[in-house]
Amino acid sequence: MPSAKIVGTGSYVPARVLTNADLEKLVDTSDEWIVTRTGISQRHVASDEEATSDLAYHAARGALAAAGLDPADLDMILVATATPDMFFPSTACIVQDRLGARRAGALDISAACSGFIYGAGVANGLIRAGTARTVLLVGAETLTKVVNWQDRNTCVLFGDGAGAVVLRSVEEERGILSVHLYSDGSKGPLLMLPGGGSRHPMSQAVLDSGMTKIQMNSGNEVFKLAVRAMEDAALTALKQNGFDVGDVDFIITHQANMRIISALGQRLGLPDRKVVANLQRVGNTSAASIPLALDEAVRDGRVQPGHLVLLCAFGGGLTWASALIRW
Ligand code: UT7
Repeated sequence: MPSAKIVGTGSYVPARVLTNADLEKLVDTSDEWIVTRTGISQRHVASDEEATSDLAYHAARGALAAAGLDPADLDMILVATATPDMFFPSTACIVQDRLGARRAGALDISAACSGFIYGAGVANGLIRAGTARTVLLVGAETLTKVVNWQDRNTCVLFGDGAGAVVLRSVEEERGILSVHLYSDGSKGPLLMLPGGGSRHPMSQAVLDSGMTKIQMNSGNEVFKLAVRAMEDAALTALKQNGFDVGDVDFIITHQANMRIISALGQRLGLPDRKVVANLQRVGNTSAASIPLALDEAVRDGRVQPGHLVLLCAFGGGLTWASALIRW
């Protein structure tokens, strides 16, 4: 059976930067609170003209260039996002058109902050089954467009960005070794954006209620669930593949909170140098966070061929997931 190998990565963040000092002028918060509670110092914010597909497009171009491939080589485009351009067409179709990827199918993945690993699971399945040879997987978000800028509990957390990878079918045990996907819909209300869909169609009342913005009920409960769930998913991935924690070269988790990332690293017994984190500069970018951090670690030379890279995510749904990659 062929394997799905990542042959190129790319990323993109909008030019505008919003610092913690800027947020101090918007809500009752402080740089000190945000840094000590989350680790975040700044985030990027899309302009009025920039939609999720625009960020996705730039990240995709970077990944294709790194892979030395052309859009016409793509069989499938997957875009993981919780902030699509619109209900339909899918953001993946908009990216397909802009890239000029004539031969590619296109599909959005909705699994909130776990979306990139869910997308990796879909890409892996398509490639292993022989349905696709070359897949573009993008995680892209413009969360700042759906944040309630009066809610200090959430508005300090999120940022915009996109990360992309190109996966190719190879005849060696390389690339994605396993993907584990989990969900618990009963805890969905902890983290949601309930308005504007078929349950609460758009109306003035729905707009006024704040339901078209991100709502997080008990960030603290989400925090604890995230650490436990990602630890479970990480250990399952290692066990299934016959590895120990000591075999892992890098862990790249969803970038929600530096304290979550550190707690996970400590519980697994991983030294700090093996834990990739970039949320200080980009905030929580949901489905974009893992591919953004991955692209950075590839481009600065940390991740090298042969390395064992463990990905873990947790987010709305609730959803959580892990993927183990032999780079
Ligand atoms: O990406 C998807 C998954 N999402 C997550 O993983 C988020 C997980 N949760 C977290 O990262 C953390 O729970 C938060 C960063 C959201 C909050 O940190 P915490 O240490 O859990 O704080 P808390 O919710 O227990 O709140 C502590 C206090 C509260 O005040 P009181 O009730 O103790 O008086 C909040 O009102 O901090 C207050 N607070 C703030 N203060 C200043 C909440 N937000 C702010 C703020 N600035 N921005």
